[in-house]
Parts: sequence; structure tokens; C-alpha cells
Amino acid sequence: MKWFARWAKHKVAEGAVPIHIGIIMDGNGRWAKKRGLPRSAGHRAGANNLKTIAEYCGSIGVKYLTAYAFSTENWKRPKEEVDAIMDLLLQYLRDVDQLAGKNVVVRVIGDRSALSEEINREIDHVWEYTKDNTGLVMNIALNYGSRDELVHGMRVLAERVRRGELAPEDITEQMVSDSLYTAGQPDPDLIIRPSGELRLSNFLLWQGAYSELWFSNTNWPDFTTGQLAEAIAAYQTRSRRFGGV
Ligand code: FPP
Repeated sequence: MKWFARWAKHKVAEGAVPIHIGIIMDGNGRWAKKRGLPRSAGHRAGANNLKTIAEYCGSIGVKYLTAYAFSTENWKRPKEEVDAIMDLLLQYLRDVDQLAGKNVVVRVIGDRSALSEEINREIDHVWEYTKDNTGLVMNIALNYGSRDELVHGMRVLAERVRRGELAPEDITEQMVSDSLYTAGQPDPDLIIRPSGELRLSNFLLWQGAYSELWFSNTNWPDFTTGQLAEAIAAYQTRSRRFGGV
């Protein structure tokens, strides 16, 4: 088998590299617990790992990476943990030069209305600062939930129906896709969930209708570029039929 030497440490097998990868960054808490550290330390390690993985994705030709950072359900966690994640996110967005230096376009997907003014300001700034980059598009899913996103999209379409601009029978799948936070982006080819949990947890449910899924037992902070290369190699062996034969 031929290999691309695009990455010094972990090579990706020749074949189609997924255009869009989604990652559920799970297992931060368990990573910290194993080390006798507070959960926030796990989230910090997880946030750092996202930088490594994003850089790797950019280097092998992945065009979109969507990382699940905070779900609409994560508000149920203790305030201390929610605050720690929000602080990390703020820091992450403020490290924009690092990301911009890697030619990354940073977008946030999710319901921004519940986020602090400070975070909203940084989100606008990071978008403005990186939007003309030409490398990897990194979607950070923040206060994101697929069902919430669909409700939001349905309301946008319902409003158009109410205004008489659109007949219900004219609503298409494309219109639904275009009403989501990921409008204009291709659906994920591959969704990865580390940490041993085998579920999607309200992540990209519409967009992931035909995504290939890959699970690993490693907690997210320990998930390596080598494991990502393995996931991509597995993806390349899958036969994607999209409902056909
Ligand atoms: C799931 O692990 C992880 C989260 C709910 C938060 C993910 C957040 C980060 C990686 C840090 C912030 C992100 C960025 C982009 C700066 P868990 O806490 O459910 O782990 P457990 O299942 O082991 O308890």
C-alpha cells in the first residue's frame, strides 16, 4: 500500500480523506479522575488536544472539523464545571492568533443567545479575524444540540410560511439543511466518539444521516493523531452507498 508522507508522525493511507469530520470530545472527566485531578483539568487537556487534532486535520486535507464542546444539556452540570468550560472556551477563542497562524477558519455553531456577552464578542471577533483564511474550517459546537438546532430551523421556515413566501409542500430537504447552523457546509463523512460511549448524544443528527461512525475507548485528552489516522483508514474501507446498492 502506498502512503502519503504528509504528516511526520502518522501517515494517512492513500484514499479519500473525509472532507468533514465530527468529533464528540468525550471522556475528559474520566481522564482527570484517573489522575486524581479536578474535572476542569480534563477539559483543559481536552481543549489542548483539539488544537493538535485540528492541526493534523488541516495537514492531511480535511476541510471541515466540527468539535462538540458544550451541549444544550451540559448546563445541568455543576456551575463550577460549566464556568470552567466557558473560561476555557474564552481562552481558546482568544488564542485566535495561534489558530489563524494555522490558516484555520473558526466558527461557532449553536444557540448563542444563552452565552455571555464576553463570549459572544470573542466569537464575532474570531470569525472576523479568520474568515478569509483558506485552510480547515473548525466549527466549535457550543450550546449546541441537534434537536434545538432543528427547532430553530423549523421556526425560520415556519415564519416564511406564515409570511406567505413559502408553501409547506414546497419545503425540501435542502431548505431544512440550509436552515441549520451548518448551512452551506457538507455533511460530516465521519463522526468519531472516543471514551467508549456508543451514542450520538444529540450531535449532528440531521447532518449525520449517512456519516460513518467510529468509536474508540480512549478518553479524548489521550486521543492521538495516530488514532485519527486509524479512524480514517477504517473509514476508507467502508462502502458508502447512501441507501443505494
Ligand atoms: C465530555 O467529557 C466533554 C465535555 C462536555 C466538554 C468538552 C469540552 C472541552 C474539550 C473543553 C472546551 C472546548 C474547547 C473547544 C475549548 P465529560 O466531561 O462528559 O467526560 P466524562 O464522560 O469522562 O465525565
